[in-house]
Amino acid sequence: MRRKLVAGNWKMHKNIAEAKAFAAEFIDLLDNKRDNVDVLICAPFTQLAALKEALKDSGVMVGAQNCHFEDEGAFTGEISVGMLEELGMDFCIVGHSERRQYFAESDETCNKKLHKLFETSIRPILCVGESLEEREAEKQFEIVGNQVKADLDGLKADQVSQVVIAYEPIWAIGTGLTASKEQANEMCAYIRQTVGQLFGEEVAEKILIQYGGSVKPNNASELLNMSDIDGALVGGASEKSDSFIQIVNY
Ligand code: 13P
Repeated sequence: MRRKLVAGNWKMHKNIAEAKAFAAEFIDLLDNKRDNVDVLICAPFTQLAALKEALKDSGVMVGAQNCHFEDEGAFTGEISVGMLEELGMDFCIVGHSERRQYFAESDETCNKKLHKLFETSIRPILCVGESLEEREAEKQFEIVGNQVKADLDGLKADQVSQVVIAYEPIWAIGTGLTASKEQANEMCAYIRQTVGQLFGEEVAEKILIQYGGSVKPNNASELLNMSDIDGALVGGASEKSDSFIQIVNY
């Protein structure tokens, strides 16, 4: 039985005081009945240390939203995986569509970042997903399948079983348009099948595959109860403790 992982992605929102206030409120709302769900918040770099400290006894994990693929060097504005490890990060998002779209992140750089993260204990959340145009052209399986193959290239099977893949159709991000539970489950199952072909059935059974894109308290339960959806990557609704807790308690 795969444990679900509900992760928040705050993107470029909140300051340190707001992150700490969220943590205090969220801890108050958490109960101990989370037998099948792990919880994670991926915050901007400047809040990571304070958030990690504020959540330290809560069991809520903390992650970053990006990293660089070199150990160190003249890469102004970048953050290495070693720097994130020093902060005790549990996860790091790789290849979010906003990074692919606005910061020219390619499958090649995503792949390098995944390899670099596996030199640490930080687990990657790899984001994949098609645009509206690609879905309308019925190319979604080809697009997502190619991303999965290219981004996981050269990893060992035991590493791949530690990767979390987030299927985030670009047309559903921040738009209020959610993929139907059938559409989301169908793609998560396809991703699992692709992972199985590349790395074996055991890995496919173990790997966590999340859905992301306008996950809200009112649709979390139907999405998270689907057979191949192992969690959610939540943007807007993770910014407020009362909506995020409802998704965690789906
Ligand atoms: P929304 O939940 O705001 O649509 O964002 C989804 C997302 O991009 C999470 O990474």
